[in-house]
Amino acid sequence: MSSAEERIFELYEGLPRQGPGCADATRRAFKMLPTASGRPDILDIGCGSGAQTIELALCSGGRVTAVDIHEPFLRALEESAREAWLEDRIQTRTMSMEQLDFPDGTFDLIWSEGAAYVVGLEKGLAAWRRLLRPNGCAAVSELTWLTPYPPEEARAFWGAAHPTMGQIEDNLERARRAGYTPLDTFTLPESAWWNEYYTPQLAKLAKLERRSPKDSVLATLIAGARAEIDLYRRHSGAYGYVFYLLRRAD
Ligand SMILES: C[S@@+](CC[C@H](N)C(=O)[O-])C[C@H]1O[C@@H](n2cnc3c(N)ncnc32)[C@H](O)[C@@H]1O
Repeated sequence: MSSAEERIFELYEGLPRQGPGCADATRRAFKMLPTASGRPDILDIGCGSGAQTIELALCSGGRVTAVDIHEPFLRALEESAREAWLEDRIQTRTMSMEQLDFPDGTFDLIWSEGAAYVVGLEKGLAAWRRLLRPNGCAAVSELTWLTPYPPEEARAFWGAAHPTMGQIEDNLERARRAGYTPLDTFTLPESAWWNEYYTPQLAKLAKLERRSPKDSVLATLIAGARAEIDLYRRHSGAYGYVFYLLRRAD
């Protein structure tokens, strides 16, 4: 990993979340799945500091295995799990989503909020399918075009940052090709971008700038993060995070 790639994590450490999301959306997605009853074994992929991991453990009553490649996020999640008295039901593993080292059929439910883009939605879903028990489910949130004709500025930005970004129907087709039956979808509210993600991130960016005004690598990363936030301010109707609720097709 280059130093800029490594340092990008600095922008996200200490934030409540590392991507758009909220507890209501996690709960709503969980309740829409047939695996909501019982105490499911859940795999949370690309968990970050695990706001959704905690919510999932609370609303499911089950066990959550949370994986990420960035250890400081996992340490933060462990701390939150201790504070919530959930450490016996949340286990963290430092592991890449591209090499998930679990036997076939280990989980009832695969969860991934805002992280499947790392490997690509279809490729990730296809590779993770074997980890599910028959009739197991997956809930994945993914950045999605909400209009067939996005503004040029948004198309150019996300065309570079997330070239495979599609509309809801494109992603449902990807899920089908990966071996799942789509059950439902919903779009996260705009508040899920601001309250626990962009607003705290803006405060963090200002703090980092004050701390290291002459750090040119950091300055470039901060400018990129601000550009993304400004774009959302202007074009929030054109794209959003959509939760895809899926069942393994057998
Ligand atoms: C946009 S963040 C989402 C984090 C969290 N799910 C949330 O919604 O707040 C993406 C996460 O994927 C993790 N990640 C990046 N590459 C990964 C990989 N190859 N394997 C596992 N996790 C990875 C990052 O460390 C980060 O925590």
